[in-house]
Amino acid sequence: MKISFVLSVCFSLLAFGSCYSSNGYDPLETALKVQRSKRSVEGYVMTKNVKADNTFSPVYVGPQDGLKDVDKITTLPGQPAGAGFDQYSGYVTVDPNHGRALFYYLTESPANSSTNPLVLWLNGGPGCSSFGNGAMMELGPFRVNADSVTLSHNKYAWNNVANVLFLESPAGVGFSYSNTTQDYITGDEQTAKDSYTFLINWLERFPEYKTRDFYITGESYAGHYVPQLAQLILQNNKVTNQTVINLKGIALGNAYVDDETENTGMFDYFWTHAIISDEIHSGIISNCNFSENATITDKCDDYVGQAYGAKSNIYFYDIYAPLCSPFSNSTPSISEFDPCTENYILQYLNTPAVQQSLHAKPVQWESCNGFINANWQDMPFTVLPVIKDLMASGISVWIYSGDTDGRVPVTTSRYSIDKLQTPVQTSWYPWMYEEEVGGYAVGYQNLTFVTIRGAGHFVPSYQPARGLAFFSSFLQGKLP
Ligand SMILES: *[C@@H]1O[C@H](CO)[C@@H](O)[C@H](O)[C@H]1NC(C)=O
Ligand SMILES: *[C@@H]1O[C@H](CO)[C@@H](O)[C@H](O)[C@H]1NC(C)=O
Ligand SMILES: *[C@@H]1O[C@H](CO)[C@@H](O)[C@H](O)[C@H]1NC(C)=O
Ligand SMILES: *[C@@H]1O[C@H](CO)[C@@H](O)[C@H](O)[C@H]1NC(C)=O
Ligand SMILES: *[C@@H]1O[C@H](CO)[C@@H](O)[C@H](O)[C@H]1NC(C)=O
Ligand SMILES: *[C@@H]1O[C@H](CO)[C@@H](O)[C@H](O)[C@H]1NC(C)=O
Repeated sequence: MKISFVLSVCFSLLAFGSCYSSNGYDPLETALKVQRSKRSVEGYVMTKNVKADNTFSPVYVGPQDGLKDVDKITTLPGQPAGAGFDQYSGYVTVDPNHGRALFYYLTESPANSSTNPLVLWLNGGPGCSSFGNGAMMELGPFRVNADSVTLSHNKYAWNNVANVLFLESPAGVGFSYSNTTQDYITGDEQTAKDSYTFLINWLERFPEYKTRDFYITGESYAGHYVPQLAQLILQNNKVTNQTVINLKGIALGNAYVDDETENTGMFDYFWTHAIISDEIHSGIISNCNFSENATITDKCDDYVGQAYGAKSNIYFYDIYAPLCSPFSNSTPSISEFDPCTENYILQYLNTPAVQQSLHAKPVQWESCNGFINANWQDMPFTVLPVIKDLMASGISVWIYSGDTDGRVPVTTSRYSIDKLQTPVQTSWYPWMYEEEVGGYAVGYQNLTFVTIRGAGHFVPSYQPARGLAFFSSFLQGKLP
């Protein structure tokens, strides 16, 4: 019964790009393939990072009166007793003419909610759900059990130390939608603008958060979303001479921030983690130039293809973890994370009573939207210049990395930091959690780098306790 469910869900949905990670569909890789092939066309002009031009176009602000009460979640089906915190979810219209609305889920803190900071969490893809992945699989207060009906409490949830706001972004992802289907052909710039409009409206709905310390965190392709949104917030604060949003810092986890380091870091990681042969690695080194305007040769393409081939049948997002497979009997990994969790979430979030309790429209909810992903329009080659500006702006900038991720591995993050050329202030040291090494940290000028030992791409899924320890340090603004 359970086995056939796993099989049918994964294999039938694969065709339209659901089932995020357990069975080979890789949203980041799919989107990058499209972008990289565009770049190889002669005359194609790369998207540039949007620069501050000191103009401000006021955003749409709709009436929000009474909507907070409407959005309050009584209880989620299958929720364990005694949650002890408030949760809200619903839609915020960002474009009334197109009928475009973004879905959010807020989990307040059980203690000190009125003084704890507000933290926005974004998943990547592009096209993947922050609610289904971020909240239900990673850092949220509940995990969906193997029965796909009941929830259990995640004692390392990040709402222990912050009020956490999960945003399904852009429209078309998760429960977010638009009545104008062309809106699903979108990209980085529109995503940042809509997220900004969302925040302005959401703060009208929840005015108690208007002056609260605000942080943005996210992972993977949110390595684009987070700095771009942060930049837009700071620009608009500056142009209007008001701290409209009280942004204090950002944290980027296993983040895609630069296409060159993504390639070089990943193939070096494959080689140093015994996934590819010496021959493939040296073939890549001597035939590939991954820099912005370089041509990808056929020889390079061939070696890269072989390297990608070598990663099949391992769980790329956490290379030593088991796959979700009907044959492996869903053995939880060392970190006790059940590799089939995504299937339970998919079934749970498609239960009508669950959608009702969330105030969501009845839809076929998907973990990642393959159409949005494959049609992504603008994606700058690198967002390092944006990160550099943010570092000089005085907000706190953290880059963290689960060190068993193969997708955006720790080598990639280290090569990206090299490119930022910021001097070391506190040298590499092991940080401790319960008398063991939780990971390593380096303090740079205007930048902090932290690894989480034994965590894959989805850090709080695989190392929940170390993940929360890292996150608490980030909010306190001190090295772990
Ligand atoms: C989308 O269209 C439906 C049906 O007309 C309407 O009820 C809904 O309010 C629209 N959404 C937005 C965000 O305007
Ligand atoms: C709540 O805040 C108080 C005062 O800052 C602090 O002593 C206490 O540890 C906090 N409680 C939690 C659960 O964070
Ligand atoms: C912001 O402040 C600057 C310098 O004081 C001033 O020139 C500008 O008009 C102000 N802008 C707004 C929107 O008030
Ligand atoms: C790549 O080419 C574009 C367009 O010619 C140019 O603007 C850009 O500076 C080049 N980038 C690098 C890193 O050479
Ligand atoms: C890679 O390509 C870039 C852009 O064409 C070029 O500037 C650079 O010298 C090349 N690197 C190597 C090692 O050939
Ligand atoms: C760090 O921030 C200061 C203050 O804005 C700036 O002068 C300096 O250039 C920044 N350094 C780096 C490496 O970003």
